[in-house]
Amino acid sequence: MKKVISNVVVVLSVCLLSAAAFAAEAGGEAVFKAKCASCHPNGGNIMKPTHTIKGISKPEKVIKKVRKGGGGMPAFDAKSISDADAKLLADYIITTFKK
Ligand code: HEC
Repeated sequence: MKKVISNVVVVLSVCLLSAAAFAAEAGGEAVFKAKCASCHPNGGNIMKPTHTIKGISKPEKVIKKVRKGGGGMPAFDAKSISDADAKLLADYIITTFKK
């Protein structure tokens, strides 16, 4: 019986671990879809078509704009997008919208 329980525990922890790994990977994309894609579909810009978010090479540039907003873009504070999510979001944008 003890062995059965420990097997169940092992199986459950493996499930939890892979769920956590998946969440970490989907983080940047999930935040982008929820908070940015409405104005920046496919890395474009529906409000100011010349200000796309394509070809940005520095995550700091994305994070700064997210925190400060301006020029028609709302600012997102740490309650809206945590520092960890802002980093994932910036990495997602840089690797997804290269050109
Ligand atoms: C309500 C529409 C709107 C939303 C939502 C929005 N943006 Fe923007 N974004 C804009 C506009 C408009 C500009 C141009 C601002 C300017 O002229 O300075 C912009 C500019 C930017 C820029 C600078 C592009 C450049 O090189 O000039 C970045 C980076 C950016 N947005 C990222 C994001 C991210 C990341 C999110 C989601 C957290 C987001 N935006 C959500 C409207 C939006």
